[in-house]
Amino acid sequence: MLTTARLVLRHWREDDLDAVAAMTADPVVMRYFLHARSRAQSDAWVAGVRAHFDRTGFGIWAVEAPGVAAFIGFVGLSQVPADMPSAPSVEAVWTLDRPYWNRGYASEAARAAMADGFTRLGLDEIVAFTTVVNTPSRAVMERLGMVRDPTEDFDHPRVPAGHRLARHVLYRKKRDA
Ligand SMILES: CC(C)(COP(=O)(O)OP(=O)(O)OC[C@H]1O[C@@H](n2cnc3c(N)ncnc32)[C@H](O)[C@@H]1OP(=O)(O)O)[C@@H](O)C(=O)NCCC(=O)NCCS
Repeated sequence: MLTTARLVLRHWREDDLDAVAAMTADPVVMRYFLHARSRAQSDAWVAGVRAHFDRTGFGIWAVEAPGVAAFIGFVGLSQVPADMPSAPSVEAVWTLDRPYWNRGYASEAARAAMADGFTRLGLDEIVAFTTVVNTPSRAVMERLGMVRDPTEDFDHPRVPAGHRLARHVLYRKKRDA
């Protein structure tokens, strides 16, 4: 568990499953992904996140805002799939439910997750990537001091060629930066 001034990044509970499924079924939340998630896909995703924690000792946390809501979204670190250009690497990941946008929560939670990555986990570097048009997520990366090299832009291997979401930007942050 990690804590910040306003947030708790904690392990997943059974009572998060409804909330995360509702969030990732919302087409507005998922507008920069190919598809919103079904309930079965959401439950399988959480099971995968829990298995990642068991396997590696780190992962994507459920985020709570005490006094505000028991679940506002998820933020954390994840091993980059082997077919991505930056692999092997660890990426920072964030998605918040709509009522909790524009409060600084994503950046606050991600800052804590990345600090944990650089200290407890001893990572040398953390990456983040998103589709070029995902301006809010790129703004989080930039607020966190992550840096994009445009020569590293890439087409996502699992997005159809020519799709409006295919082109991705890659941001990196070194431990000492
Ligand atoms: C990506 C996402 C998490 C970004 O959320 P966000 O609310 O824009 O980012 P933050 O939580 O860091 O909030 C930053 C904003 O809160 C504002 N803010 C308001 N009160 C604040 C406070 N007390 N402290 C800090 N910032 C505050 C900041 O000024 C900033 O707004 P600005 O960009 O207009 O200046 C959100 O858009 C999302 O979940 N999108 C859908 C899923 C998604 O695309 N995920 C990423 C996939 S790569």
